[in-house]
Amino acid sequence: MRYRRFGSTDLTVSEVGFGCARLGGVFQGASKSDLLRSLRLAFEGGVTFYDTADIYAQGESEALLGEAFRGRRRDVIVASKVGYCLPTQRRLAARIKPLLRPVVRLLRLRRQSLPGSVRGALAQDFSPPYLTSAVEGSLRRLRTDYLDVLQLHSPPPEVLERGEFLAPLETLKRAGKIRQYGVACERPEDVRLCLRYPQIASVQINLSLLHQGALDAAVPGCLEHGVAVIARQCYASGLLTRSASQLAAGPPPADEVQRRERDAVLRFHRIAAGTGRPLRETALQFVRDTAGVAVTLVGMRTPDQVADCLRDLAGAPLSEDERGRLRSGGSARGNLSAGGRRSHAGHGSQAGERICWASVPSGSVITRSQCHAPS
Ligand SMILES: NC(=O)c1ccc[n+]([C@@H]2O[C@H](COP(=O)([O-])OP(=O)(O)OC[C@H]3O[C@@H](n4cnc5c(N)ncnc54)[C@H](OP(=O)(O)O)[C@@H]3O)[C@@H](O)[C@H]2O)c1
Repeated sequence: MRYRRFGSTDLTVSEVGFGCARLGGVFQGASKSDLLRSLRLAFEGGVTFYDTADIYAQGESEALLGEAFRGRRRDVIVASKVGYCLPTQRRLAARIKPLLRPVVRLLRLRRQSLPGSVRGALAQDFSPPYLTSAVEGSLRRLRTDYLDVLQLHSPPPEVLERGEFLAPLETLKRAGKIRQYGVACERPEDVRLCLRYPQIASVQINLSLLHQGALDAAVPGCLEHGVAVIARQCYASGLLTRSASQLAAGPPPADEVQRRERDAVLRFHRIAAGTGRPLRETALQFVRDTAGVAVTLVGMRTPDQVADCLRDLAGAPLSEDERGRLRSGGSARGNLSAGGRRSHAGHGSQAGERICWASVPSGSVITRSQCHAPS
């Protein structure tokens, strides 16, 4: 594992970070002891960066991190996010998770099969009082008195334009409750808005072989401004981990976006085969070695996935020539979109973050009284 400076801050981070969105969901099937084992295996393999959010698994993701790293807090960098609010249904579900899990297993229920009314719509709140109280909740679940990085969770552009979040975040920083703050952006265009504020230390963006838009639209600006880039979804939420035969054997794509994505992944399989390595390893290395990326998140859950990730990292780096072929190989027109809300809703694997984008109208910000942080 190699380590990098986190933008122009004084934080040092492992080049790969553990994406914790799938830790603890009712539909995941992994036991708590397996999840804790995955976290410890990653730590032993040198991973020091952990990306979570208050709403991941209704707070359980943060709680698992708190448990895994009790007594080792100073050895890890914890980045969490706030801004989404849990609907009542999900808060209730969180309380009865131990009862729900066996039912879900027995009935082989999948999250996507539940009607939206059962799941409940997510809303957002970036008001100063909400941000402050949500951070307190995160600190409690993580069993810590500070966050290394606090990120606004997918704020709409108008929230970024208004900049009302700066005052409460600066107050939290002065109080020592957060060390740095940044923004987990939905679209590369949002990164440009973030760069207006020198106080913003990091941005998180979707970047993979399949969604290369941020390479031109976001990364160079961040490099220039000393802003750390957290690259997420390097496997395109799992699409790039599927074998060519799995893709060919699967059901036909439901729409044009999915068809183009599948065709692009098949093309990447052919390019990766030409480099003599599997696509999963190629996908990870492509993002990890992008100049300007501080940390590449890998969405993991099981100890086997962690072991795969550590093995893939140890492979020989891609040559410039190989990178060049991957850079232009996604589709006839270079690559697919950068992956905004619309394209995420297109393939079910976006549920990896367990947020139903379709339920969050772009730009929706609701009032604090309508909003609940995970308890
Ligand atoms: N707006 C935001 O702030 C936002 C949005 C999305 C993601 N994120 C962050 O980014 C992280 C990564 O996102 P992500 O999980 O959607 O995308 P990802 O890292 O591109 O992909 C994760 C997917 O790859 C699969 N996978 C992982 N290791 C594998 C292996 N060794 N072999 C086969 N399959 C493997 C997982 O399978 P399983 O399903 O079987 O585990 C999962 O479906 C999240 O955890 C979260 O921290 C943030």
